[in-house]
Amino acid sequence: MEQQIITSALATDTIKGLSSTPKFLLSRYFYDDAGSAIFQDIMKMPEYYLTDCEEEIFTQQKELIARKFFGDDDSFSLVELGSGDGQKTKILLHHLAGLDIRFQYIPLDISQKANDDLQATINREIPGIEIHPRTGDYFKQLKELNGFASNRKIILFLGSNIGNFSEEETNRFLTQLAGFTRPGDKLLIGFDLKKSPKVIMDAYNDPHGHTRRFNLNLLVRLNRELDADFDTEQFDQYTEYNPETGEVKSFLISKTSQSVYAGALNQTWQFEKWEPVFMERSRKYDYKTINNLASHNGFRVVYNFTDSRNYFVDSLWEKM
Ligand code: AVI
Repeated sequence: MEQQIITSALATDTIKGLSSTPKFLLSRYFYDDAGSAIFQDIMKMPEYYLTDCEEEIFTQQKELIARKFFGDDDSFSLVELGSGDGQKTKILLHHLAGLDIRFQYIPLDISQKANDDLQATINREIPGIEIHPRTGDYFKQLKELNGFASNRKIILFLGSNIGNFSEEETNRFLTQLAGFTRPGDKLLIGFDLKKSPKVIMDAYNDPHGHTRRFNLNLLVRLNRELDADFDTEQFDQYTEYNPETGEVKSFLISKTSQSVYAGALNQTWQFEKWEPVFMERSRKYDYKTINNLASHNGFRVVYNFTDSRNYFVDSLWEKM
C-alpha cells in the first residue's frame, strides 16, 4: 500500500526546520491544547512578571484605556489577536460593559478549546457582552475578518506576543494590520521592555520546569501528529538572553547522538550530541524601537500605558 505523506503547514515547517543548519522549530506550534494549558501555568508563575504587569495596567488604568479607545462614534469591534483565556481583557470588558457603548468582542485564537472556554466564561461572568470567537491562524483570520467587521476597529495584541516574531514576521504582521485598518482604527499592543537581564532570565529559565515542558510539548505534538519518535528524555532545554539585541532565545539540546523518524513524513533526522534546536524568541523592546515600528507602518503612538515598575508597556496606536 502506498504511504500517505502529510502535507500540513506543521509538516512543511518541521521538514524545513529540522533539515536546516542550524535546526529550528516554530514556536507558533507550541499552542496545541496541551501547550496552551502549559502556557497558562507559565502565566501563573510569580517569575513570569509579564502577566502581572499587564494585569496591573488593565486594573489600574481601565478607565483611561476606555476613554482613549473612544472616537466620535460610540460603536466599535474589539478584535483580540491571540486571546487565550482573556484574563486581562476581561478586566477591560467588565468596565466597558458598564458604560453606555455598543461594541462586539471578537477573540481570535489558534486553540479551539481556549476559544470555547473563553466564550463560556464571558457568557457566565459578563453576560451583556456580544462575543464572536474565531479559531485559526492570525494572518488567515485577519484576512477573513476584513470582510465583515465594517465599523471602527480596536485591535488588541497583548502579552508581548509580538516579541515571538522574527523581524521579518513583525514587518509582515504590521504591514498586514496596517492594510486591514482604516484611519481612526486603533491598535493596543503589548511590548515587554528591556530591563535587568536577571529579571528576564528568571521568567524564562523558571525553576518550576514549565518552560522546559512548554518546549518539549512540541516534540510530543510531533510524535502524535507526524508519527515521530522523539524521546523527550534525550533533550535538554536551554535559555539565553542577549541584552544587546533584547532577544531571549530558547533551545532544545540533543543530549546524545540520535536519529528521529517521522512516519507520516517518511523522514529521518540525525541529531549530533549537544546539537541545539532553536525553539523560540521572546524579544524585549525600548521606546525608540516601538515608536519606529508604529511610524513605519502608518500609525501614531497615542498613549503608552505602563506598569509601576516600567517593565511592560501597552502602547496605543492610531492609524493615520
Ligand atoms: C506568548 N509569549 C508572549 C510568551 C513569551 O513570553 O514570549 C511565550 C513564552 N515562552 C516562554 N515563556 C513564555
